Amino acid sequence: MRSLKPLFDRNKIWSAEITAQDPEFFAKLVGQQSPDYLWIGCADSRVPANEIVGLLPGELFVHRNVANVVVHTDLNCLSVLQYAVDVLDVEHVIVCGHYGCGGVQAALNNSRLGLIDNWLRHVQDVMKKHHSRLDELPDEASRLHRLCELNVMEQVLNVGQTTIVQSAWDRGKALEIHGWIYDLHDGLLKDLSVCVKSAAEFAEVYRQVAESA
Ligand code: CO
Repeated sequence: MRSLKPLFDRNKIWSAEITAQDPEFFAKLVGQQSPDYLWIGCADSRVPANEIVGLLPGELFVHRNVANVVVHTDLNCLSVLQYAVDVLDVEHVIVCGHYGCGGVQAALNNSRLGLIDNWLRHVQDVMKKHHSRLDELPDEASRLHRLCELNVMEQVLNVGQTTIVQSAWDRGKALEIHGWIYDLHDGLLKDLSVCVKSAAEFAEVYRQVAESA
């Protein structure tokens, strides 16, 4: 007996619906993918990348982890980034966080949850970097709200500092990095205005983020 049968049932319905709308849909995707965007987002089940931006399979290359963190020693994330930039030739990297992020909250509260605590140290580094301004905020909800935003901004900087992105800019490739945040309350995205599309702009945005806590 097949386990998780409801999911297979839903899969059949989904496939039939897509095919009904476009009988050639899957046939066209089999040959190749040519997404325009790389999405680096949180693994949170409430933040499904494609649905939020209304994109179909084949249109968005996706990497997700807890708290949408970009770490310079994370071979997984870096491989996704390198493949997206150098092979798929995407021109937009979107780092998308979300308000109410459980990972960011755990980092803020210094919670002890297990192995994940080590991963969330990266978010605690963001918190420590900006602690003086965060401490000035009136309550924990405000601090969580702001740390979710700051975490996205810092991850945009981390993407921009990779050899992958720096090399792409050096050779004149069009490549923009965006920092967005998603609101679970209304399903809407907000642009955090840290868009970077060149090494020169990067230096400016780096200063902007350092001062924006
Ligand atoms: Co999250």
